[in-house]
Amino acid sequence: MPLPTAVAVDTSPIQGNPELADLDPVWRAIVTESRTRANDIHLPISVAYAERLCDAYPDADALLVRVTTLLHDTGWARVDETKIISEGFGGDWRKADIRFQHERYGCDIAREVLPGLGYDDAFIERVTAIIDGHDTRQVSHSLEDSLVRDADRLWRFTATGIALASGWFGLSPAEYARRLRSEIIPELLTDAAVQMAVAELARAEALLKTDLLS
Ligand SMILES: [Fe+2]
Ligand SMILES: [Fe+2]
Repeated sequence: MPLPTAVAVDTSPIQGNPELADLDPVWRAIVTESRTRANDIHLPISVAYAERLCDAYPDADALLVRVTTLLHDTGWARVDETKIISEGFGGDWRKADIRFQHERYGCDIAREVLPGLGYDDAFIERVTAIIDGHDTRQVSHSLEDSLVRDADRLWRFTATGIALASGWFGLSPAEYARRLRSEIIPELLTDAAVQMAVAELARAEALLKTDLLS
């Protein structure tokens, strides 16, 4: 049962939030890491969703959720790129070594980047506690952990996410959209994320004409 919220959820098309510029130094610090595995698409869209999720769950530590979402997949930049598709998406991809590696390297990058930008050790420890296991641990340990996990999934429901991820999994956009509905929506941990996912997927399927191109 996804975590309910009493707050009205914004399910309008996702967009940037230029007035929130406090993380700009963190973005600038991970330009190199953003070039792997479409992180320069995945991470900004996921952070935009993370910000909306924090609006829906005001008890969450929004800075923790936003910084952790921004950094969570940077570790892909340090794993063997040739294995990202072969091991990261094929077969039993949830248990592939490369998945554990990208989490560990992501923690390393957080520890390298954040101290110089004014984040203290206690905060960085909370960031790495969420990054470590974000793909491979089955359970969420906190509200912030849950919001990062949902933000990490929500970007896929956009037409942009479907375009990229369907290719990674070797599926047509229509097949991938069906998988999102049958497998990914049930994995979402918060009701706000479910509402956003359902609305975004309906828009993306209409735009991409998945009923005709299936
Ligand atoms: Fe990941
Ligand atoms: Fe991710």
